Amino acid sequence: MRPNLYRGRHPINADAFGPVEFSEVFRTADDMREKYLDRKIRPLLKYFLLRDGEPLSFQLIMSPSTRTAISFQTSIRVMGGIYDWKPDIMSSLSKGESAKSMATILGYFECCDCIIVRYDEDDYAAQKMADAIEDRGLSPIVIDAGSGTRSHVTQMFLDMYTYYRWRPKEFYTGDITYAFIGDLSHSRTIHSDLKGLENFGGTVYLVGPEAENVPSEYLPSSENTRLRIYKVTDPLAIADKVDAWYFTRSQDNLRKKKKTTGDRKSSAFSEAYWATKKLRDAMKKDAIVLHPLPHGPEFEEDIDLIDHRFQHFPQALNGIFVRMALLKMLFAPHVDIKQIASEYGKVEMSGYFHSIPVNTKNIIGLCCTENCLCVELRGNGWEGKLQSKQEKLKVKAENPIIPWTFCNHTHCQQVSVK
Ligand code: CP
Repeated sequence: MRPNLYRGRHPINADAFGPVEFSEVFRTADDMREKYLDRKIRPLLKYFLLRDGEPLSFQLIMSPSTRTAISFQTSIRVMGGIYDWKPDIMSSLSKGESAKSMATILGYFECCDCIIVRYDEDDYAAQKMADAIEDRGLSPIVIDAGSGTRSHVTQMFLDMYTYYRWRPKEFYTGDITYAFIGDLSHSRTIHSDLKGLENFGGTVYLVGPEAENVPSEYLPSSENTRLRIYKVTDPLAIADKVDAWYFTRSQDNLRKKKKTTGDRKSSAFSEAYWATKKLRDAMKKDAIVLHPLPHGPEFEEDIDLIDHRFQHFPQALNGIFVRMALLKMLFAPHVDIKQIASEYGKVEMSGYFHSIPVNTKNIIGLCCTENCLCVELRGNGWEGKLQSKQEKLKVKAENPIIPWTFCNHTHCQQVSVK
């Protein structure tokens, strides 16, 4: 049986997820996107990562990262959790401590609910941490945020989500032609994305120099795969067929650490594997061009401003929604924003000197006269007056079962209720 987010507990392996889990991630990410982008709703997300009213705690152990680290930090902060960020060079990992030993300590200290790990030195860093936790019956969940050249599970989810949002029908039916270009040997995002795409199918061109290729362990076995995979050395030869390009830089940080495979010189990637004007002119006009970032000379800075096909910044933004979705699915599967709104939503009441915020859950009655702003507060009788009609609508929307009665004003009591 395929382990999934729930059965396997730890999202650490790119090949652990099937189409059902992907669909759930996409649906939840769409939902989180909508809520995050709505400035009025966003504050309510801070009630997601709570247990018994206390914030859940996350430990980020990270080799260098911009997008993954910041999108996790942002997601955790917006959703009400707390985090500590420990760069790997500031921990004893830099003195040779193993990932297992570190995870064991975090588990024994009971200092966090979740370990998010990016570790360039070890292809199995997240897996080893999860093993250490499970072997000792400890509690934190481990999330892979990039392990060596092998896996980058959350990048895989955000890349699949980007393809899905771009062409949902074709993505699900396997009618997209992809080109993965650049560091085929060492790019953990390519290796993980191939595992993800196996669920949906499609045609894949692996584009790189003769000596470069995706190691066989990351390629699907020839039987039963929905992917048609071809290795090519010349991107111009396939440019008119490709719908979705995925450029990568030479992974010099990982090449230095991995001494046994491939060509270790970044010069392996000549202009032949860059998005030169010649290649851009040959690409389909409605293609999409992605890159996990950071980019090197594969394309020029600000190319997105002159060529709308380059969607690497919106792709990175999807990382926030996908990571929020994963946190929601793992830690708050049953939390409902409507429930939160009725429990924690605040409205402004008129005060003597200034307005006073009041939880909507403390409002137990509304005056049924349309223009009257009086509300009944728990234990106070007809004491409160809302600031505006807008606030009254908010109370009604967030708690539709609040009874409508007349307030004590004579003129209100004279109005008949329809
Ligand atoms: N795509 C990605 O993993 O970027 P960072 O290395 O900046 O996290």
